[in-house]
Amino acid sequence: MRVNVIVNGEQRQTDNVWEGESLLYVLRERLGLAGSKNACEQGECGSCTVYLDGVPACACLVAAGQAEGREVRTVEGLADGENLDPIQESFVECGAVQCGFCTPGLLVTAHDLVARTENPSDAEIREALAGNLCRCTGYEKILDAVRLAAARKEHA
Ligand code: FES
Ligand code: FES
Repeated sequence: MRVNVIVNGEQRQTDNVWEGESLLYVLRERLGLAGSKNACEQGECGSCTVYLDGVPACACLVAAGQAEGREVRTVEGLADGENLDPIQESFVECGAVQCGFCTPGLLVTAHDLVARTENPSDAEIREALAGNLCRCTGYEKILDAVRLAAARKEHA
């Protein structure tokens, strides 16, 4: 089947998509957007998180056909050209990236939290990030990065 999706503001089309193929597979293997990571393919780890019509979703759990005509924003679409999004800058500054496998999904999730929650509490940050697993950082630096991005937004 043919699938049309708006990805990071661009209309993209892929042909010969198998019915069971995931949106994650289409993004990574057909459209060359390797930012979203494939770790579990079961909705457990959050490393494949993308915005689907503005709402974070695990791309491994979305059938490509379900994304027909919809808008997807991946981690590649967070930056504005060469300018990183503030959440990306905060992750870099706080040392919240180690192997980086979880990072794209965490960035999308954290980007959403900071956009919709003013001055989030630690409990709100932990709850928002609960679906994103990291094997490296112990989460403290990730929490620091989200706190920093939220504080900067508040004072912007
Ligand atoms: S790869 Fe999608 S949640 Fe783990
Ligand atoms: S930085 Fe390695 S899994 Fe999170």
